[in-house]
Amino acid sequence: MIATAPAPLVRIEGVHKYFGDFHALKGVNLDIARGEKVVLLGASGSGKSTLCRCINRLESVSSGTIAIDGEPLPQEGKALARLRAEVGMVFQSFNLFPHYTAQQNIALAPMHVRRVPRAQAEQEARDLIHRVGLAGKEDSFPAELSGGQQQRVAIARALAMHPEIMLFDEPTSALDPEMIKEVLDVMSELAAGGMTMLVVTHEMGFARHACDRVCFMDEGQIVEQNTPDAFFTDPQTERARDFLSKILEH
Ligand SMILES: Nc1ncnc2c1ncn2[C@@H]1O[C@H](COP(=O)(O)OP(=O)(O)OP(=O)(O)O)[C@@H](O)[C@H]1O
Ligand SMILES: [Mg+2]
Repeated sequence: MIATAPAPLVRIEGVHKYFGDFHALKGVNLDIARGEKVVLLGASGSGKSTLCRCINRLESVSSGTIAIDGEPLPQEGKALARLRAEVGMVFQSFNLFPHYTAQQNIALAPMHVRRVPRAQAEQEARDLIHRVGLAGKEDSFPAELSGGQQQRVAIARALAMHPEIMLFDEPTSALDPEMIKEVLDVMSELAAGGMTMLVVTHEMGFARHACDRVCFMDEGQIVEQNTPDAFFTDPQTERARDFLSKILEH
């Protein structure tokens, strides 16, 4: 019998992205296996956010392909809405709807995009609020929640769509130190539960302990990838060494 490796959940091949004349992604190749947790590191401007935004099609690629579960990313329309449902994304800014409660923020997309009946969507929202440690805050509005609590609602909102993969783009960068841990705890639990994750973060403890692989970006390319242990103890490129010496000083 010939053992074949399972197809990756995400396959990024030869992706280039231009913003006008500016070449932001220069031939990115990256496979992410189902259940794998990948952390994306790199200096400011290296293209981390752009790559995340291309994966869920907030940005279109200039050339190359991105496929999720073997399906190339659709350009527009219903197929794109379906794809967005498969890719959950959490940003630095929480982007909750200010005039909806926590529960309503979470239940909205399942009702409108996935056509889940209201009662079911609301029950799932309550379960998710519980899961991210916010029981009792169902009826709170975003302005009544701390930053860490709002970010946990944003994570619950993404999970409500039953995504295949979760993208996190600096989810704790806007938070005070005491709130960072509560968000990282929720992310660690998700990771332990088998979720496929691509995470951009400055939290090196999380990168080391919760992730399987580090991808280091420089000027629009992945220039180095390795296990967290190998990357942090023995970076191979000058750029990675330079990056690590700067962040580890803080
Ligand atoms: N909409 C845009 N229009 C023009 N240039 C852009 C746009 N978005 C990003 N860029 C440029 O592309 C490059 C990569 O940006 P990106 O936001 O992906 O970097 P990053 O690695 O996420 O940086 P940071 O760590 O600061 O968040 C930067 O030089 C940026 O100025
Ligand atoms: Mg960014």
